[in-house]
Amino acid sequence: METKELNLITNREKAIEEAGELLKNGGVVAIPTETVYGLAADAFNADAVAKIFEAKGRPQDNPVIVHICDRDQLSKVVSAVPEKAEKLMDAFWPGPLTLVMPKADAVPSTVCAGLPTVAVRFPRDKDTQDIIRAAGTPLAAPSANISGSPSPTKALHVMSDLKGKIDAVVKASGLCEVGLESTVIDMTKEPPVLLRPGAVTPEQIESVIGKIEISEGVLHQLPEGETAASPGMKYRHYAPKVKVVLVKGSYEKYRDFLNDRQSSKNVALCYKGEGTDIGCPAISYGLCNSPEEQAKELFDALRRIDKMAVNVVYARCPKPEGIGLALYNRLIRAAGFEVLDLGE
Ligand code: TXA
Ligand code: MG
Repeated sequence: METKELNLITNREKAIEEAGELLKNGGVVAIPTETVYGLAADAFNADAVAKIFEAKGRPQDNPVIVHICDRDQLSKVVSAVPEKAEKLMDAFWPGPLTLVMPKADAVPSTVCAGLPTVAVRFPRDKDTQDIIRAAGTPLAAPSANISGSPSPTKALHVMSDLKGKIDAVVKASGLCEVGLESTVIDMTKEPPVLLRPGAVTPEQIESVIGKIEISEGVLHQLPEGETAASPGMKYRHYAPKVKVVLVKGSYEKYRDFLNDRQSSKNVALCYKGEGTDIGCPAISYGLCNSPEEQAKELFDALRRIDKMAVNVVYARCPKPEGIGLALYNRLIRAAGFEVLDLGE
């Protein structure tokens, strides 16, 4: 299959119109959002949704998120809106927050992997909104990567994973604004349960609806055989092909640790400006004091490491607070939960 490239920069109107046409006709199109690129299909077309799973190599038991372009579309996909969900929508939609709610009968079970619930997001990116509008239907869309690899934050990442397997990719310029996938929270539970941390932080959510629970799988490895509240959490994720070790402690301890093990087969995944004192190859992502910039650049950094001939990645460990919780959650998965604590 030839994968068309629809360029928002050179001809926005045409790119959106063509993407809309393809999606209307049961096609599968990668689209930019403010979080990461999504692999989209008409959420009410079970055959089209099946093609998403096939292209990604995604396990059938991992449900996908439905994207809407205004609050009116919500009633098409959910059968009830919990009161606290309404409050979160008022506060954070459109934006990087996904709410799990009871599903409407019309949503095919392939979208929800047989669950009685559906995850819904109203993205704030104007291009995403216009593509959904042009398609004339809510869009089912997981991240547009091969299952298990880091989510794509630019069109080039999508092409390197999915070229030839999907109908088209809509290209925006540069990296996605946020760079990490949306916050996912299950609103069918009381208190609601945070399933995946993202740019909308637990602190922000609690300031609107009070106490929430953080799912065990956010920070820890789920015991063998335990069913995950969010099926996506049980899979190894965000992982480059080489081994990743997360290193806790001060920058000085980290630098000395790596300088004791100088090798071209080790790579440091550190913050901007830190690599120069380290005697092995270094990839940096974001300034030390800017977790937002780190979030935006992390997946691109992991993909750059994949292109290097190295054996082990030693990654600086982010503070698990604010958006740092989302960074920590992604990195600890990439590291297969292996953390080395060097102390302060
Ligand atoms: O930012 C994002 O959320 C991106 C963009 C494209 O919107 N999408 C994304 O989709 O990251 P995906 O499929 O890679 O991650 C969706 C997560 C998975 O962990 C999945 O298990 C969970 O949401 N999920 C989806 N539907 C669910 C449901 N009904 N109940 C519980 N978890 C659900
Ligand atoms: Mg994903």
